[in-house]
Amino acid sequence: MYKIVKKRKLNDAMTWLVIEAPLVARKAKPGQFIILRTDEYGERIPLTMAGHDSEAGTIDIIYAAVGRTTMLMDQLEEGDALADVVGPLGKPTEMDGLKKVAVVGGGTGNALAYPLATGMHAAGIEVDMIAGFKNKDMVILEDEFRAGTDNLYITTDDGSHGEKGFTTDKLKELIEAGNKYDEIIAVGPPVMMKFVCRIAEEYGIKSVASLTAYMVDGTGMCGGCRCVIGGENKFVCVDGPEFDGSMVDWDELIKRNSFYKEQEKHDAAHICRLTGGVRYHD
Ligand SMILES: Cc1cc2nc3c(=O)[nH]c(=O)nc-3n(C[C@H](O)[C@H](O)[C@H](O)COP(=O)(O)OP(=O)(O)OC[C@H]3O[C@@H](n4cnc5c(N)ncnc54)[C@H](O)[C@@H]3O)c2cc1C
Ligand code: FES
Repeated sequence: MYKIVKKRKLNDAMTWLVIEAPLVARKAKPGQFIILRTDEYGERIPLTMAGHDSEAGTIDIIYAAVGRTTMLMDQLEEGDALADVVGPLGKPTEMDGLKKVAVVGGGTGNALAYPLATGMHAAGIEVDMIAGFKNKDMVILEDEFRAGTDNLYITTDDGSHGEKGFTTDKLKELIEAGNKYDEIIAVGPPVMMKFVCRIAEEYGIKSVASLTAYMVDGTGMCGGCRCVIGGENKFVCVDGPEFDGSMVDWDELIKRNSFYKEQEKHDAAHICRLTGGVRYHD
């Protein structure tokens, strides 16, 4: 069993957990993810490692409670345990030869951008972090990004915190202001990533996108996470999760990501406001 040693609510939707997983922690690198199950009958879900401490034998995850498994996980408290944690999975973030990058995170994607941006900064790369959110209530990790990157730019759609506008507006502004990026890394909703990568292409800058395709086994066996990259089929779990953004078939990815919408709606959990208990629709 994988004990939860620390739980911290970041806002209504997002939670940070520190979990005992010594074998995973020993080998973890920025950009890699785990697959966990809350209990032996649970669904397997992939989550990026937001950090790790190999000496303490712990890993960190930051997740949004969006559906059945993440809502169930949100009911667990410090001292409770997850049934299993498999990892580290996927390829670590490539950092060789990079001097200055812009990392663009959107919404929940900022949880995935956090280890990537701070890991790059810790490796001596200059990091401009652009973190976009719907509004101020959704903002997460502001202090952590500020401490762990060179410059932090927060945007909100409604202007209730940071600058009003989209991450893509800020990215364009920074490029136009003369910042020379070796790479732009996009992490967030596929539509945002598509436009971030398009801007990078316009300015002749290499783009990298961290894809969150549906996964089952996470080891390249099931084909569930197949994406089209440069006209070829690739598996996000073993070939990624990071890919050259200019090669991603965004329209195919967006279509695939909405494939199970109806089933997920049907399968969703309801959290009782009075008791805090979870009830599933049939
Ligand atoms: C490599 C990888 C790393 C990820 N890292 C994180 C992370 O660090 N933090 C985090 O909050 N989430 C992360 N995700 C997304 C996370 O796996 C899903 O939110 C989770 O599986 C939802 O499970 P559920 O049963 O709670 O919700 P479900 O009922 O399965 O889905 C609820 C909603 O979430 C969307 N969703 C489900 N699975 C995915 C997916 N794989 N990618 C994108 N949207 C999905 C559905 O379209 C639906 O709208 C990652 C996904 C991948 C593939
Ligand atoms: S999750 Fe099965 S092949 Fe990637």
